[in-house]
Amino acid sequence: MIEPKALDEASLEGAKEPSRPVSVGLMPTSASGKSPVLVPIRSLGVNHRVRINRHLLALDPHDRYLRFGFSANDAQIQRYADSLNFERDEIFGIYNRRIELIAMAHLAFSADSSLDACAEFGVSVLKSARGRGYGARLFDRAAMHARNEGVSRMFIHALSENTAMLKIARQAGATVERDGSESEAHLLLLPATLDTRLSELLQEQFAQTNYRVKVQVKQFWDVLAGVQALRRDVQDAQQITPK
Ligand SMILES: CC(C)(COP(=O)(O)OP(=O)(O)OC[C@H]1O[C@@H](n2cnc3c(N)ncnc32)[C@H](O)[C@@H]1OP(=O)(O)O)[C@@H](O)C(=O)NCCC(=O)NCCS
Repeated sequence: MIEPKALDEASLEGAKEPSRPVSVGLMPTSASGKSPVLVPIRSLGVNHRVRINRHLLALDPHDRYLRFGFSANDAQIQRYADSLNFERDEIFGIYNRRIELIAMAHLAFSADSSLDACAEFGVSVLKSARGRGYGARLFDRAAMHARNEGVSRMFIHALSENTAMLKIARQAGATVERDGSESEAHLLLLPATLDTRLSELLQEQFAQTNYRVKVQVKQFWDVLAGVQALRRDVQDAQQITPK
């Protein structure tokens, strides 16, 4: 269970955009097998679609190839973002203090009702934010949500060259099957427990609070920057005006 003090500390650190995730007591073990960490990962709704699109457009051609299995062009990315089903699926995101979406994951639930115990995971982290464990944390978050939704198997389609993604999946205990240039990993999920349900509720609450704090801090700095720009303009005008 999360200690309130740890949440407070993590919340402040999250607002400061730490270079390393903040360690707090969370769950005994994470799906990725890493030490428990708390990163403000929030669930994204339809009002985040524009930022999701912007995040994906910021991926370079190779990352787009790794993420989608082909070098998606801007129009294809736009179509993907437009087609996201926020009712059926779950989209998770990590924002920095400039309210830029630096990492996101898409947990797609099977549209086929006979396969409703399956979900597929896809993820992307901006280059500037890699190596901080965000990919693995998003995997853990999605796996916990999938468990709580009664999903028993989570799939990950990745290119065989995608060492980072396959490592995240393997470390979480997924079975990886390689088929030439492509690989498929599947992770068997245990049924939900009271702990997974409470942990998800608390994590979401923490991430929403962290996001609101970041938005307010950004608004404050934006207003301050505006006032300073105005002051500079007035000073410049006074210097130009002949006495
Ligand atoms: C795959 C991706 C999400 C990983 O994100 P990340 O936040 O950098 O990953 P993490 O920091 O959680 O690292 C997870 C593990 O992979 C390792 N790793 C990260 N990048 C690696 C690389 N290029 N080569 C080998 N291992 C790598 C890390 O060291 C870590 O292992 P460790 O726990 O033993 O230290 C990111 O590289 C990405 O967005 N790639 C483009 C899109 C993509 O490939 N999506 C996946 C297909 S759905």
